[in-house]
Amino acid sequence: MEIRCPRTCLLPLTTAAAVFFFFVPQILIQFAYASEKGYTRQPPGRIIFTKHDRSESEPQQVHISLAGSDHMRVTWVTEDHKAHSIVEYGTAPGQYTTMIRGNHTSYTYFFYSSGKIHHVKIGPLEPATTYYYRCGGSGPEFSFKMPPSTFPIEFAVVGDLGQTEWTNSTLKHVESKDYDVFLLPGDLSYADSQQPLWDSFGRLVEPIASRRPWMVTEGNHEIEIFPIIYPHGFKAYNARWRMPYEESGSESNLYYSFDVAGDGIHIIMLGSYTKFGSDSAQYKWLQHDLAKIDRKTTPWVIVLLHAPWYNTNTAHQGEGESMRKAMEELLCGARVDLVFAGHVHAYERFTRIYDNEADSCGPVYVTIGDGGNREGLAMSYKEPASPLSMFREASFGHGRLRVLNHTHMHWSWHRNNETNSVVADEVWLESLSASSTCMGQQPSSLKDEL
Ligand SMILES: *[C@@H]1O[C@H](CO)[C@@H](O)[C@H](O)[C@H]1NC(C)=O
Ligand SMILES: *[C@@H]1O[C@H](CO)[C@@H](O)[C@H](O)[C@H]1NC(C)=O
Ligand SMILES: *[C@@H]1O[C@H](CO)[C@@H](O)[C@H](O)[C@H]1NC(C)=O
Ligand SMILES: *[C@@H]1O[C@H](CO)[C@@H](O)[C@H](O)[C@H]1NC(C)=O
Ligand SMILES: [Fe+2]
Repeated sequence: MEIRCPRTCLLPLTTAAAVFFFFVPQILIQFAYASEKGYTRQPPGRIIFTKHDRSESEPQQVHISLAGSDHMRVTWVTEDHKAHSIVEYGTAPGQYTTMIRGNHTSYTYFFYSSGKIHHVKIGPLEPATTYYYRCGGSGPEFSFKMPPSTFPIEFAVVGDLGQTEWTNSTLKHVESKDYDVFLLPGDLSYADSQQPLWDSFGRLVEPIASRRPWMVTEGNHEIEIFPIIYPHGFKAYNARWRMPYEESGSESNLYYSFDVAGDGIHIIMLGSYTKFGSDSAQYKWLQHDLAKIDRKTTPWVIVLLHAPWYNTNTAHQGEGESMRKAMEELLCGARVDLVFAGHVHAYERFTRIYDNEADSCGPVYVTIGDGGNREGLAMSYKEPASPLSMFREASFGHGRLRVLNHTHMHWSWHRNNETNSVVADEVWLESLSASSTCMGQQPSSLKDEL
């Protein structure tokens, strides 16, 4: 009699291997994260695992990002590796007047193999115009709106997003009011090496990330280094969340810049977890990028990074300090208006600062790491409150930055509530480029460098 081994016989073996290769690293990584906590957090929301309910060849995890002034990069995943990397689009539903072919990538992480990750750069596109598009020649239709090429323009700003019930409620509040571009200063999926959670995250955010460009930079949860086997990290992040680094003269997906509202706003995405010292490629790129800005035509400069340089929460104290020491003079010398960070799971807004002192020509610093991740909130603050800290609160929420014109922007922070969100902090900011005092007195050492 023939002895046959149905697939289920293999299950115990694969399960054992899976336990070893997924969960052992996971436990080690969790242990590393747990040991950095010396503070109590509010109960986090339950993790939402978003299932795949389309066919293997249909696009999933569709998201878009700006790629140069009049192009958009469309990214999606198919389980079918034969699916084509094409995007068809047009300005009316179902009428695709243009088809563009792009390319694809994929990666493996222990026993996990990603689907086919497609990247297609489409354009030229008209500003403030709605486009209807389809990925891979089949499947559902999506649409997005190109940002306007003039003021006003509005950003939604969300850090440390994760994929919990809180994430869902934050995203719902973001969607409840229109905006043009989504900015994320790091910590996206909290997959932490469990690769299927990257797919789940992609599916959770698709309804929002396929409609407006998502511009992100990396946080510590994107690193996913495993000693010897994956020593460089960012495997999943770089494959899935490709940003316009080549378009901005950067050699790394971990830092880049782009312009919005024509060239009215220059946004710089820095990498807290790649080298930033004065001899690093990132530092030299930043120097060069800042030197190219003409503040007469570009009144606003905004920076995003993950680990905050200023922080009065007891969580993650000092983690952004060496980067601050390396790069603060460059940013302040270039009269950067605003610096967003995440990492600390709470909201905090500072006054204008340079080198730990209030300085009317320095950037305003905002920590917005309260998108909804599974680790919960960072509840404890240093006392007494620093006079540099204008507002601080450990609640989940998101921010909105509305740039009205060359001189004025309005920033607001929206705390999540049961069914709606509530504006808990807001402030008007004036561009430093409009201040003759600040533009006239840059430190002389910086003039030489820039
Ligand atoms: C995709 O195309 C871009 C630009 O043409 C290129 O830089 C990139 O290396 C390509 N990626 C892959 C995976 O072939
Ligand atoms: C997440 O939000 C969407 C849309 O707001 C909703 O349809 C879905 O049921 C929510 N999921 C959970 C688990 O709350
Ligand atoms: C810019 O917007 C602000 C706020 O609405 C307004 O007070 C100011 O007059 C505007 N400036 C210009 C030049 O339009
Ligand atoms: C939600 O909104 C209500 C009514 O505005 C308010 O009383 C309550 O404190 C809010 N809850 C949170 C968590 O902000
Ligand atoms: Fe973080």
